[in-house]
Amino acid sequence: MNYQTWLTHFRANREDRPEPEWSAPFSITGEKLHLLRKSLAEYQLGDGGGECCLVAGDAETYRGASEEARAVVDAWFAEEREHSRLLARAVERVGGEFITSTPAFRLFYAIRRTLGVQFEMLVLLIVEIVSTGYYRVLRRQVGDEPIAAMCRLILRDEARHIDFHRDRLAARQPRGAGTLWTWQFHLLGRACAWFLWLGHGRCLRALGGTRAELFAHVVSGQRNFLAELAERARPRAALTARTTLSAS
Ligand SMILES: [Fe+2]
Ligand SMILES: [Fe+2]
Repeated sequence: MNYQTWLTHFRANREDRPEPEWSAPFSITGEKLHLLRKSLAEYQLGDGGGECCLVAGDAETYRGASEEARAVVDAWFAEEREHSRLLARAVERVGGEFITSTPAFRLFYAIRRTLGVQFEMLVLLIVEIVSTGYYRVLRRQVGDEPIAAMCRLILRDEARHIDFHRDRLAARQPRGAGTLWTWQFHLLGRACAWFLWLGHGRCLRALGGTRAELFAHVVSGQRNFLAELAERARPRAALTARTTLSAS
């Protein structure tokens, strides 16, 4: 895992971040506005709000593995905190109220705390992919340029967060994802997508989005991720096979 590449990326990504024009005229009203307030407030808490760090009991086995690993993980979470800041501006724009906890949020943290850092990282990867679906539907349907601009910024970051997970998994599983891991990945993805739809589906539907649209983003995000992970593993698997053949 080349942590330096990722440190360079996170440093560069702090530049050229056009702030959405939050004071632009606003025209969303009625039921749409009511549902958008609730959805954005929950996302403001969930995407970089709260503790915004690895919380698993054994988190230091990953974050503390080296100074570079620590710096990269911290830079990643700093971007998540930035998402929460952007979402806070969006909550203010729609006249929403901030929240500090929900049952879903508490469950999210309980799972992460309890099941170890590798599972926590998997859960966070799934959340990055599923949230990408949410932001894509929101960007397309919201009908408000500053909120759409916020989605574009967050989506730009999340795309690279997913690449970061691909690189760390390629380093950890050089022969590619095993069958069990792949099943777990698909299962968690669908479960998380349903969870998101249950919490935010009314809002996305009121804006004009559909469950099919959200799920299509999640499924393609998961497929792309697995394809890229397999692509990373292929040269190494071929090298291993060649080494085994020449040794026999
Ligand atoms: Fe995020
Ligand atoms: Fe992220």
